[in-house]
Amino acid sequence: MKKVGVLISGRGSNLQALLDAASAGSLGGEIAARRAGVLALVSDHRGRSREDHDAAVAGLLAGHGVELVCLAGYMRLLSPVFLRAFPGRVLNVHPSLLPAFPGRDAQRQAWEHGVKVSGATVHVVDEGLDAGPIVAQEAVPVLEEDGPDELAARILEAEHRIYPSAVRIMLEGRGRLEGRRLRIEGRT
Ligand code: GRF
Repeated sequence: MKKVGVLISGRGSNLQALLDAASAGSLGGEIAARRAGVLALVSDHRGRSREDHDAAVAGLLAGHGVELVCLAGYMRLLSPVFLRAFPGRVLNVHPSLLPAFPGRDAQRQAWEHGVKVSGATVHVVDEGLDAGPIVAQEAVPVLEEDGPDELAARILEAEHRIYPSAVRIMLEGRGRLEGRRLRIEGRT
């Protein structure tokens, strides 16, 4: 079984969606876990440089045999040190149709801009902000009665659908990079 590491800072609903897919057998791998449940590792970044902290986290993940790292609401930019440890093997989920509305509060940005369609994106992480090659997207219509919170709630449902399937594509080695286009072999 290939091992997936998930980095989160907050609520963890995408982590839960990945765990659910793993137990249903539809993730194509397992979340780095021990028998009693999920292995949770906490690394304190205080008093350490970003590079030192990232090297420590990358070391923990690699030490547990993790092959693919998923960011799920991880509120820190990863340094090149981390990305070099997992080249092309870090994914992120973002609550907009990138490249529209990168950065924080993407659902509110989209709502305030007045777009009629937004959505969710899973992408490979590079050194840019929400900028790497796109693995999966799902469009979500902005309804007349939506406020930012209603829109965000429906986008979150889309995130929970596309993240597990994007993870599976990557674990199965079906994503091939051509420039910044990620071509997916076989059925999605
Ligand atoms: C999600 O909206 C994700 O797109 C963004 O942060 C949020 C994390 O939510 N990057 P959760 O912690 O997975 O519930």
